[in-house]
Amino acid sequence: MEFKHRSVLLEETVNGLNIKPDGIYVDGTLGGGGHAYEICRRLGNKGSIVGIDQDEAAIEAAGIRLKDFGEKVTIVRSNYCEMKSVLQGLGIDKVDGIVLDLGVSSYQLDTAERGFSYREDAPLDMRMDRRQTMTARDIVNDYSEKDLYRVIRDYGEDKFAKNIAKHIVIEREKRSIETTGQLTEIIRGAIPMKFQKKSGHPAKRTFQAIRIELNRELDVLKNSLDEMIDLLNPGGRLCIITFHSLEDRIVKSAFKKNEDPCTCPKDFPVCVCGKVSKGSILTRKPILPSEEELEENSRSKSAKLRIFERK
Ligand SMILES: C[S@@+](CC[C@H](N)C(=O)[O-])C[C@H]1O[C@@H](n2cnc3c(N)ncnc32)[C@H](O)[C@@H]1O
Repeated sequence: MEFKHRSVLLEETVNGLNIKPDGIYVDGTLGGGGHAYEICRRLGNKGSIVGIDQDEAAIEAAGIRLKDFGEKVTIVRSNYCEMKSVLQGLGIDKVDGIVLDLGVSSYQLDTAERGFSYREDAPLDMRMDRRQTMTARDIVNDYSEKDLYRVIRDYGEDKFAKNIAKHIVIEREKRSIETTGQLTEIIRGAIPMKFQKKSGHPAKRTFQAIRIELNRELDVLKNSLDEMIDLLNPGGRLCIITFHSLEDRIVKSAFKKNEDPCTCPKDFPVCVCGKVSKGSILTRKPILPSEEELEENSRSKSAKLRIFERK
């Protein structure tokens, strides 16, 4: 199957990096290499890029896409939370820009057997990194009702979370839940008919929630941002594209904390905590896709780009 993925906020993100032709850049979510390709095009002979992805299919696709750029490109299969050690392994201490384009690629969603999509019937998998042993099946069949409720409420923000968790537990007592189709049917049964027509596909939020839990998406993001900012050279930029409010909130608050980390009470005349700003937020409001992009690519609908510049 061909690796199809349309890069979101492509120009905005690559412009946002303010690329220096001889700089070192990192793409922490390489995917099909769409953003990386545009970065490579702006690099001179001394410039380079390290592309990281945890999915072997992405690594393969990006390798093909970027092959003409030769030694400028290094591709590593890893989680972006390991960025510092990946770079150390390559003898790189600091970089001039980092990009993250979060979530799953269209390729992952469209490949039925990866089990990400509620539109296809396939084994419940949802692993971005298939070296990991735990799958979505294990969450759906083994988590307690309370934990399922928490995951669907917190990561899916589904107002029927409690009922969905209850229905999952009732159904799995009859037979184990093995496929995306089975799970979708159970979710349908847990949401009142009149709400099913209103807000997108009824299974969308629960699938998102299970995927986030399985791949630890929010923890990984939260635990990586400070380190990424520390990896930047002065003037270096971190560009992050998020796809839902939970991710966006994490990025927004980490950027704020790095811009103004002072913890002194507001009425102190001078700072005594000694925490100094690491740089500034270049996007007071996030950058959103243009009307044209929204029309051409429905996946861009909830995308937001935020940019931080290191001091
Ligand atoms: C939206 S796609 C990126 C598409 C890419 N920017 C392009 O233009 O082709 C997200 C990619 O990030 C990868 N990914 C998500 N979270 C990751 C993580 N924590 N570490 C490494 N890769 C991750 C996914 O496997 C997926 O291939």
